[in-house]
Amino acid sequence: MANHIVLLILVALSFCYLAFAFEPSPLQDFCVADPTSSARVNGLACKNPMTVQANDFFFSGLHIAGNTSNPVGSRVTPVNVAQIPGLNTLGISMVRIDYAPWGINPPHTHPRASEILTVVEGSLLVGFVTSNPDNRLITMVLQKGDVFVFPVGLVHFQQNVGYGNAVAIASLSSQNPGVITIANAVFGSNPAIAGDILGKAFQVDKRIVEHIQSKF
Ligand SMILES: *[C@@H]1O[C@H](CO)[C@@H](O)[C@H](O)[C@H]1NC(C)=O
Repeated sequence: MANHIVLLILVALSFCYLAFAFEPSPLQDFCVADPTSSARVNGLACKNPMTVQANDFFFSGLHIAGNTSNPVGSRVTPVNVAQIPGLNTLGISMVRIDYAPWGINPPHTHPRASEILTVVEGSLLVGFVTSNPDNRLITMVLQKGDVFVFPVGLVHFQQNVGYGNAVAIASLSSQNPGVITIANAVFGSNPAIAGDILGKAFQVDKRIVEHIQSKF
């Protein structure tokens, strides 16, 4: 009998663990972000629902091409909780990505979201790398209308391999997916990671590391 009770408690605790592993589902119609609140919560505090307006759920401008005149030749226009406060707690967001010819969206990861991307103009080479120890590169060329998924946390990238500009729209499974661009995080941190650490990590002379660091 006592064994059964212990087992029941263990099963109950394991459910608690699963429930708290991710942000719980909303328990109300909405929780429009109130960035001015001083409350410390996992995300952003809710505005008084009586003061919520249609504009809290609205963004305009995703028809406008991003400026790709930069060293990587791409531009991400985000539409997440920073642009639409009404996305708070809902676990979704989106982006428009513009690519100049041969432009890349450099290797990066979203710590809090999976991503589903569709090409609306041009052709893209896309890829992601599986975690250690395999580090397998899974890659494909996409045409207009094709859809590809980048699983949560994995390093991924896109390259415009068509003749003109390319445009993609992607959705992400978080209102605040976050982004870690690998080159910037590793070689452009503030303050910098010591050259001998990166030299050993990348198996190159620390002068090569310092040369790369000088680009960020
Ligand atoms: C695009 O960005 C470049 C580099 O920052 C800038 O010189 C240029 O004026 C921008 N173009 C437009 C149309 O805003």
